Amino acid sequence: MKNIVIPKPWDASLYQEKHSFVWQYGEELLQILNPQPGERILDLGCGTGQLTEKIAQAGAETIGIDNAPEMIEKARQNFPQLRFEVGDGRNFQVDTPLDAVFSNAVLHWIQEASLVINNLQAALKIGGRFVAEFGGKGNVNAITQALYESLEEIGVSNPIARNPWYYPSIGEYASLLEQHGFDVNYAVLFSRPTPLTAGDEGVANWIEMFASNFFTGLTVEEKSWVIRLVEDKLKPTLYQNGSWIADYRRIRIVAVKRNPTATTATTTINP
Ligand code: BEZ
Repeated sequence: MKNIVIPKPWDASLYQEKHSFVWQYGEELLQILNPQPGERILDLGCGTGQLTEKIAQAGAETIGIDNAPEMIEKARQNFPQLRFEVGDGRNFQVDTPLDAVFSNAVLHWIQEASLVINNLQAALKIGGRFVAEFGGKGNVNAITQALYESLEEIGVSNPIARNPWYYPSIGEYASLLEQHGFDVNYAVLFSRPTPLTAGDEGVANWIEMFASNFFTGLTVEEKSWVIRLVEDKLKPTLYQNGSWIADYRRIRIVAVKRNPTATTATTTINP
């Protein structure tokens, strides 16, 4: 009998041990958040909780949510003094309005950006801030193209339909925020070539961890074959001195919930 690939739940230990760069890069975003003592701050997509804990260290009251129960279990083990709940960016609810929502390296997993933004708008105080970084337009483009081509080479039709990611441009995402009652104060899209751990196995590990959706229904042998093809295609550009470098591009954005009753200042020009 053939072994068919079924997407697995998140492996929280593998994530924590081999992909710590995810929250290490998040430290800069924490400086932008600038959490203050007593603020109520939600970490949306907290993973194994490392950044939530940093926010709490600043004296803020935190809650970390993640839609993967395995991540929440690990976060609770790591930081038993903090509050972590299974929750989804599209429909989480809070009892008391928040001063800020922070989100690092998560929102590219949610195609329904309007639902998330609507929800943020409901959860924040007026003047509350949304501070996020995630994959932006062009993120992991070389890896994604190599996956498409390799899947097609083994006979998978329409591999684009297997892509689970959402990588908006600044214009697209800032417009959505404005349509949902936010003022966008800061937005930037930048390349951040990201060294992957595990030497020669770096890109294979990354694909195992993050790209399982592309392999649904394939055999284990087909998956290994596709990964080898991807490595061959990417080696000339993304492998340097014994290390794989992923072609990350980040969108970083800060938006503030507008007061819906405030009148917009108008300027009268006297003729
Ligand atoms: C990212 O952080 O850009 C990313 C991580 C996993 C899958 C896709 C993108």
